Amino acid sequence: NELKIFTPATIANVSCGFDVLGLALDNVGDEMIIRKIPENGIIISKIEGQDLPLETHKNVAGVAGLALLAEAEATHGFEIEIIKRIKPGSGIGSSAASSAGAVWAINELLGKPFNTSDLVRFAMEGERLATGVAHADNVAPALFGGFTLVRSYEPLDIISVNTPSELYATVIHPQIEVKTSDAREILRTTVQLKDAIKQWGNVGGLISGLYTEDYDLIGRSLQDHIIEPIRSILIPAFDSVKKNSIKAGALGCGISGSGPSIFALSKGEETALNVGEAMKAAYNKVGIKYDVHVSKV
Ligand code: HSE
Repeated sequence: NELKIFTPATIANVSCGFDVLGLALDNVGDEMIIRKIPENGIIISKIEGQDLPLETHKNVAGVAGLALLAEAEATHGFEIEIIKRIKPGSGIGSSAASSAGAVWAINELLGKPFNTSDLVRFAMEGERLATGVAHADNVAPALFGGFTLVRSYEPLDIISVNTPSELYATVIHPQIEVKTSDAREILRTTVQLKDAIKQWGNVGGLISGLYTEDYDLIGRSLQDHIIEPIRSILIPAFDSVKKNSIKAGALGCGISGSGPSIFALSKGEETALNVGEAMKAAYNKVGIKYDVHVSKV
């Protein structure tokens, strides 16, 4: 009647795949406790670590849970406690972790009436509340694990993609907050054909590299010609962090989700740790504080 779960941080976009590609981190995330209660509906009873709303309709876990309950035949409700370790506005899927964790655990406690794609659909309602847009590129990897591709939003079609065994992510979070809604507002709504050609070439290359575990191809494909040139202006010292990470052996480096976190992918843990040191050096030089995570994908 009660579950205590780990719900992972995620890196959305992964450079070339704005709103469609994402990956889950193995050892960075929140904890949640979900238990059955006799009353109907969802109660958020406690949030530790961050100052976030407890009202069900204003909380992403509450809204995602209600979306699930609207389609379920439940004779009781659920109480949710969140131990928040992912900072909101850091760019590693804080709202997605809460939304995905809530619907995953509620589904388990109900005897699994829904499949994972259904859970993505419910969790997207949490994202709609958090950012104004029901994007799935954080909640899909949070629920499926590893790499995921949102092949289509209408109808929703989520593909779980092979994750190479030696792939590690390094994430550095400069201590500023960027709201996803703000980082979306500055984007252009049209794309030049010459940029689109480069972008879809890279998306295909990345997916192929992930399946064949061709790390060089993964590295060549980690480029973003559309979003990064615009959003990187919101991120302090983006260019030097990126340059340092590549010099330290990263396969590629880009903005994590809507930022300000910057991610790099590497082959092997040792390289990923070295990349973390190189990223830190860039921020130490300009006196910016940061958090760093290294995780298997
Ligand atoms: N794809 C979304 C964006 C992810 O970049 O706006 C937000 O985490």
